[in-house]
Amino acid sequence: MYYGVGCPPCVGYREQMSVSAPKKLIDLILEAMKDERSDRAKYKIMMDMARDPKVKRQINFAYEDEGKHYKMFQQILFKLTGKMTEVPVPDVKRPVSLLEGVESSIDGELEAVELYRDILAMLPNKQMRDMLYEIITDEQEHAVRFTYLYSVLK
Ligand SMILES: [Fe+2]
Ligand SMILES: [Fe+2]
Repeated sequence: MYYGVGCPPCVGYREQMSVSAPKKLIDLILEAMKDERSDRAKYKIMMDMARDPKVKRQINFAYEDEGKHYKMFQQILFKLTGKMTEVPVPDVKRPVSLLEGVESSIDGELEAVELYRDILAMLPNKQMRDMLYEIITDEQEHAVRFTYLYSVLK
């Protein structure tokens, strides 16, 4: 296998990518996949806690998106490593109240944006960076939805 810099004609694209993807990038993507799993599980609990269908609906937007994001990160990781990776759903603590869950989700969404910007900066091609742009704008939208919910529930 070729481990040097550059791409001799005998080396396939995937093989070249898999040897050149930095460990730091792989680790950050795995962290992102774990966060997506954990957020989705938390939003499921919050939807069960919410009685108002309008509140449920707002949380459901984020719930659906986190499932999509997990798959997108999984696809990026596959392109970088040639391997399909699954991250188990972590144990998620039930928020003490819906309001507390909403409040901590605003912070969580904004922290995700910070992490995903770091990942975006390390990605090797436009197709992958476009996927990250989509995820980042979704997370920003979630932060806005949770901020709105916070003002409704407070
Ligand atoms: Fe997400
Ligand atoms: Fe989100």
